[in-house]
Parts: sequence; structure tokens; C-alpha cells
Amino acid sequence: MNQRKIIIDCDPGQDDAVMLLMALACPDEFDILGITTVAGNVPLDLTQRNARIMCELAGRTDVQVFAGCDKPMRHELITAENVHGKTGIDGVTVYPPTMPLQDQHAVDFIIETLLGSENDSITLVPTGPLTNIGQAMARQPDILPRIKEIVLMGGAMREGGNTTPSAEFNILEDPDAAQIVMQCERPLTIVPLDVTHQALVSQKRIEQIRALDTPVGAAVVGMMEFFNRFDSDKYGSDGAPLHDPCTIAYLLEPELFEGKMCNVEIETGSPLTRGHTAVDFWGVTDKVRNANWLYKLDADGFFALLIDRLKS
Ligand code: BDR
Ligand code: CA
Repeated sequence: MNQRKIIIDCDPGQDDAVMLLMALACPDEFDILGITTVAGNVPLDLTQRNARIMCELAGRTDVQVFAGCDKPMRHELITAENVHGKTGIDGVTVYPPTMPLQDQHAVDFIIETLLGSENDSITLVPTGPLTNIGQAMARQPDILPRIKEIVLMGGAMREGGNTTPSAEFNILEDPDAAQIVMQCERPLTIVPLDVTHQALVSQKRIEQIRALDTPVGAAVVGMMEFFNRFDSDKYGSDGAPLHDPCTIAYLLEPELFEGKMCNVEIETGSPLTRGHTAVDFWGVTDKVRNANWLYKLDADGFFALLIDRLKS
């Protein structure tokens, strides 16, 4: 099978952690060139540690983990311990992992890896603030042609913001980096809250994962039960939205999603609406349609895929 070469850029976070477990369980489909981490849900020293814990849990210590930027390009870091707990992955046993953190800075790794690759060869999968990716693009624009595609979790249109009335967390954290990515002129698919709020971890779905009866299944259940406490109250829904694994699901089975090519830009200035994703969903401007904006998910199909992959 033709493996897709990917770099995953994340800020684990329970939903990033499940995304990693899903991706790491797909060695036939993905050649994971590296996992780069960024400050977001929790500070950088915890996101890089949490990524390594997930690699160890998945038995994939062959994958390299890099630490990147510890704060956004222009603003102060906002963390989300209120959602994810002090460790970022509350719900599982947290310990100092034995697999090493790579010495190289994540931004240098991204630049070096892309520069050493052919055009249209590497897919970027960001599921946290876009600081590492935006910095790499700003510092070395020659990397752009090497990017095959970017599939990122972030933004919101119909659902509104989850961190401010206007903004979703990942985009709010570093709107300047996000705007660089929006303008990079490479194929871009955005998995916003409009989609992830359809991926609810209901009690029934938790029981299906528990029934896997594996260490990975137990870890996912523990994290989801923790995550559910905060978000089920917030949204009044049966279970929390499982945001980040939707990126991996899109790469595996894009037919689970519906999307539309739209112009998407980021508000970087206004204090009121900073981090807002301005989506021209109805084509009311003649601006370039720079992103495939996903808006619909086959949620049962998504969870069937997730559970099937976690089994392995
Ligand atoms: C995004 O923000 C983080 O809290 C989650 O990990 C996800 O990437 C959802 O808004
Ligand atoms: Ca995330």
C-alpha cells in the first residue's frame, strides 16, 4: 500500500491523544515522519511529554517526537487546564516516559524535512495552535511546494466560538500563525467545530470502546470520561466533541465528511473578535477559495472507524 507521509503537529490534550493513538494504529496508511508539539492546551513541556506517553502506550517508540514553540507568535499563551486537567491528559496514568525527546526544535525539523522532500509529498496534520507551522512557513517559504496537503482542526462558523463568542481555541491561541497558514496557497482542509460538534462521545460509544478490553481502549475511556465532564455540561450534549481525531478520519475515509471550497481568513486585530474564522460559505465575495471547509460528518461511521483502528 502507498503510505501517506505525514507530520502531526499537536498539543495533547485528551482529544489530541486519541488522535495520536488512532494515527499510530495505522502503519499501513501513514508514514509518520515526526510528531511535533506546541504549547496550547497545556504548556510545551507537558504537550511533548504527553505525546511521548501516547507513543509508548501505542508501542510506537519508533516515531520521533519534537518540541516546538512555547508561546504564540504575538500573544500570551492561553492554556485550557479547565477542560483537559492539570496534566492535559487527565484520565490516564501520567508518568515520565522513557523514549527520548528529540533535540532538534520542531520548527527546524519541519523545515529540514520538507526541504529534503519532493514537491507535493508531505501532508501536515495540525491539531493545536498553528504556531510551529506558521513559523516554519514564515521562516522558509521554500517549504511550501513540498506540502501535499494540510488537514487541520480549528475554527468555527455555524457553531460559533468555544473559547470566545467568536473564536475556536486553536485559532484564538495564535491567529497570526493561522492567517499565515490560510494564505499559504497549498491544498487546505479545515475540520472546524461545525464538524467536530457532531462527533459526540456518548455513553454508548464509551461502552463500545471499553469493550475493546485493551490498555489503549482503557486509556481512551479514561480520558473521554474526564473530558466529558466539562464539555457535556457546557454544551448540554450526550458526550463531549472528539475534535482532533476527525483529521485522521478525514485522511482515512474522506467520504465520511461533506465540505465546500470557501474563502477563509482569520481576524488578527480586533480585541472583540480575535481568532474568528471569517468563512465565505455562500460565495458572497470573489476572494480565492483557499480551503475545503468541512461542515458535515457521518458520526456513526466516524466512531466505527475510530474503534476499528483502536482495536489494532
Ligand atoms: C481544539 O482545542 C483544543 O482544546 C482541542 O485539543 C482541540 O484541538 C478544539 O477547539
Ligand atoms: Ca488539540
